[in-house]
Amino acid sequence: KKKLTRWDLQNKKQAGEKVVWITAYDYWNATFAEAAGMDMILVGDSLGMCVYGYEGTVPVTMDQCIVHSEAVRRGAANTFIIGDMPFLSYQVSVPDAVRNAGRFHKEAGVDAIKLEGGKRVCPQIQAIADGGMLVMGHIGLTPQSSGQLGGFKAQGRTAEAAEELISDAKSIQESGAFALLVEAVPPEVCGIIRDTLTIPVYSIGAGITADGQLMISSDVAGVFQAFTPKFVKKYESLGEKTIQAFSAYRQDVLDGNFPAPEHTYKMKEGELAKLKT
Ligand code: KIV
Ligand code: NA
Repeated sequence: KKKLTRWDLQNKKQAGEKVVWITAYDYWNATFAEAAGMDMILVGDSLGMCVYGYEGTVPVTMDQCIVHSEAVRRGAANTFIIGDMPFLSYQVSVPDAVRNAGRFHKEAGVDAIKLEGGKRVCPQIQAIADGGMLVMGHIGLTPQSSGQLGGFKAQGRTAEAAEELISDAKSIQESGAFALLVEAVPPEVCGIIRDTLTIPVYSIGAGITADGQLMISSDVAGVFQAFTPKFVKKYESLGEKTIQAFSAYRQDVLDGNFPAPEHTYKMKEGELAKLKT
């Protein structure tokens, strides 16, 4: 498998070929994502919820994102990997944003970074792009500002709100982003954005009109139990299956069925007899 480039992604948009991507936070899920043929992997700051059990993404640090991005890079050497800029890694200043975007590249070897927001982060997008890095925008439901949005809620449901999103999308493209992610927005609005922009526009919870889809790995596999957004389709229930496996192991030990002889090491020939007790 050959790692995609931005131009491959751009050509897929022109050809009407969907791009499919998923989050991964650790080595083994990265290997699974690559084996499944994912076009891209996002090391999302959703790792705060999915890996660390925080209620949102706000507590996530740069160091956490770097460590997880490194692990994902090792597990998926031939997949286009996007590092997700955590809260406060780009909001404070433009130089901060460039340095932190650079850390993702220097320390974790990502192929691109993503950050949340519309016009208000366009100076950051432009500066990171000017630094020679690929930047993806992210609008609609932006979890790092969920307090300001009044919760984890769908966005762009009125004409006025939709126009604001479309205007943000244009500014993001003009600032030099190579792609845009739209989260929890009606498909009609995402479709307008998709048709308006020349860069690829991807959806998570924004319907079928986009150039591709992102899903969270723990939702797809059914391991994240805390809550399930409307836009999630669960393809497995690995959480339940894992609980079953753990329970079976526990019961086996209690019943004296584990470990069996085939799980143990033999002493070398004749050595047991020589043992002084
Ligand atoms: O962190 C993440 O996984 C994301 C998606 C929810 C869009 O940014
Ligand atoms: Na995120």
